Amino acid sequence: MSNLDSSRGNWSSKVGFIVAAAGSAIGLGNIWRFPYVAGENGGAAFVLIYIVFVILIGLPVMIAELSIGRNTRKNPVGAFKKLFPKSYWKVVGGIGVLTGIGILSFYAVIAGWTLQYAVKSITSPGYINYTEEQGAELWQNFFSDRENKISVITDNNLSKDSTEAMTDEKIDIILNQFSGTDEFKSYKEKKMGQLHTDKIFNDFVSNPFLPIIYLFIFIGLTSAVVMGGVSAGIERWSKILMPVLFLLLIILAIRSVTLDGASKGLEFYLKPDFSKIKLETFARALGQAFFSLSLGMGTMITYGSYISKRDNLVTSASSVVFFDTLIAILAGLVMFPALFAMGMDPAGGSGLVFVVLPSIFAKMPGGIFFGAGIFLLLSIAALTSTISLLEVPVAYLVDDKGWSRKKATILMGLAAFLVGIPAAVSFGANDWLTKIPILKVGFLDFMNAFFGNYSLSIGSLLIAIFVGYKWGVKAVQREVEQEGNIFKLKLIWAFLIRFICPIAVVIILGYIIVTQKYF
Ligand code: PHE
Repeated sequence: MSNLDSSRGNWSSKVGFIVAAAGSAIGLGNIWRFPYVAGENGGAAFVLIYIVFVILIGLPVMIAELSIGRNTRKNPVGAFKKLFPKSYWKVVGGIGVLTGIGILSFYAVIAGWTLQYAVKSITSPGYINYTEEQGAELWQNFFSDRENKISVITDNNLSKDSTEAMTDEKIDIILNQFSGTDEFKSYKEKKMGQLHTDKIFNDFVSNPFLPIIYLFIFIGLTSAVVMGGVSAGIERWSKILMPVLFLLLIILAIRSVTLDGASKGLEFYLKPDFSKIKLETFARALGQAFFSLSLGMGTMITYGSYISKRDNLVTSASSVVFFDTLIAILAGLVMFPALFAMGMDPAGGSGLVFVVLPSIFAKMPGGIFFGAGIFLLLSIAALTSTISLLEVPVAYLVDDKGWSRKKATILMGLAAFLVGIPAAVSFGANDWLTKIPILKVGFLDFMNAFFGNYSLSIGSLLIAIFVGYKWGVKAVQREVEQEGNIFKLKLIWAFLIRFICPIAVVIILGYIIVTQKYF
């Protein structure tokens, strides 16, 4: 990422661009967001729809964004202005700038959690294990509650009668019989592990200060990179570290798949059950595709503006899409087998990775070492994404408003930090923000849906319409076919960008608006 300063330059090489763009694409979207969204939306069937959207909608939009960027050599607002100076299309760029701040604000909160887990793995490596007393206390607390007792009965199929109306005595009789068995022992063991990782997670995210401090640290790191020239170092490091991340994920996937009881998870993740598909599943898959590929807010316009005319945009875009999807699929392969093996709920929401990963580490030799490694690498993967998020508003202010890079970075970083604070306290620290009345979701989840799904979907829709009908598919084809490059599937691409992308996005967003199933 050596040339993100305002004096416009080129990536050092085609590989340099792919590393930087893959760095933007690969991040928490793949490892934090993809598994939990897949878990909430039925597993394998969601994954299938996701992959179809990535290929038929994501890739064409990425080619469109890169072409706009390379052709104009501008930030998103400047790019539209340059192509059609008197039109309103620059508003699309403006939405992108705002979306950049919006996503950065909550993304950096999760990145802060990741960083905190990395720090914890190094400073108190014992955190993944619990002592006998801690275990006993966790179990006691859990087991003193009627609802939880009922869950033990239903989890283990101990009674055919409806549990709702059962008297307390009846519950106790059933559980007393169960408590002598071996199944009970292994169930209790699993449950204590789960309660332990849940508690670590909840203690941290509901703390009123720590998440804000880590948010600050993360935005600080991002701003330092965007402001200074250290980005060249990041490009170099990414080339080494991302393959390491990939390797670690493979090792974790192997551990996860070989856990007792993992097969149910594999089935959930890989064997589509189409009865689980609801129409909103399509909306979540579409939003996830745009989010994971960094599309719809002009990140790829900005990054495309530094690509050399010699490079083939289509093959570059395809490589980025391929690596991004590979990492997401792999992350699911780490998460779901383990999750089912530990008896956790796949629809557990945004805390999923943070409770599943430590429980895998607890079950492998040298687990804490892997734990430190994976959270550290994940923090770095998140950093290469936050850099690209902050770069969009900064490039705009520097190019179009004549701000200094330093001033633009500090002010935009500060804005993201301030907007991030309510997100950071929306996991228990502040009741109102944890469950916003009427919306019935937490503030972070709201921002995630609003900016991470809908704003990116609308941005991508407008970019597809712009390229398909205003600038013209011919212009993109010309942009791709320079210096002897050929655009093999240009007719298919043109069809996808003109018809499939806009129609699919409009139908899906229309459905969401009509049914109001926003979250
Ligand atoms: N694609 C990034 C991820 O998956 C997030 C992102 C979205 C980055 C939009 C830039 C723009 O983690």
